[in-house]
Amino acid sequence: MTLSDHRQLILKILCSTPDTRASELSLRTGLPITSSIAPNELVLVYEQTGLELRNSEDKPGTGVKVETKWLRHAMKRGLEHLRGDPLARALNAGNAKLTVIDATAGLGGDSLLFAALGHQVTAIERNIAVWALLDDGLQMLRSDPELSEIAARITLHLADARDYITQNKTSPDVIYIDPMFPPKRRASALPPLELQRLRSVVGEDLDAAGLLEVARAHATHRVVVKRPNDGKPLADGVLGSHQGKTVHYDIYRKG
Ligand SMILES: C[S@@+](CC[C@H](N)C(=O)[O-])C[C@H]1O[C@@H](n2cnc3c(N)ncnc32)[C@H](O)[C@@H]1O
Repeated sequence: MTLSDHRQLILKILCSTPDTRASELSLRTGLPITSSIAPNELVLVYEQTGLELRNSEDKPGTGVKVETKWLRHAMKRGLEHLRGDPLARALNAGNAKLTVIDATAGLGGDSLLFAALGHQVTAIERNIAVWALLDDGLQMLRSDPELSEIAARITLHLADARDYITQNKTSPDVIYIDPMFPPKRRASALPPLELQRLRSVVGEDLDAAGLLEVARAHATHRVVVKRPNDGKPLADGVLGSHQGKTVHYDIYRKG
């Protein structure tokens, strides 16, 4: 799924009474506004809890959105314990604060983990609907006294990461890649329903190996790739892996 072909999907913005935020979102994304959801349509809709993505069967408030409960919970426990997370260990940061490009930002869960660890994150998402959800989620977090400092470490861009990295000639310490896994493999942090919805707007990230090649040419420290435990490495040259319950993180040296 690329920036240019998102309009082929039946994706709309749901808004039954005039709403400035919905009109602005329609202008920014090019998505049409509708006042009702047809079966097999997906809509972006502003609820009190923020922007969410849902279909005609989902109840208001139950759609896919940026999830921050885990982060609030982690803050209560003390963020230090996040250093033990396999993804945190895969960065090999020691006590350093790194610059990280999250090249496949999705709903921002991993970007938030990096930012909670104190790293400076450039989050890149190419799918217009997913970008809109994450943009709204980050805006809400920036005005949340508890989480604003963490959210302020994340800068979001709507772009294909291959283009962004090559055009900006950027050299971050780490580039992180988490492409959409093949279907029927539930090796994701996202619950199955969220994964389904996300997959229905994003499709398969079949070009992930090309992204890895670009990432290896630009990261100064390492590239980290999330894989399902039953999946093959994205490319040869894995230096080592950090094991999680259902996924692992492959490390690649800069190319
Ligand atoms: C499995 S999801 C990532 C989930 C994310 N790690 C999280 O914590 O929510 C993959 C996302 O990467 C995006 N993506 C894939 N390839 C991309 C690329 N080359 N540039 C930008 N975004 C990309 C997809 O649109 C999709 O939203």
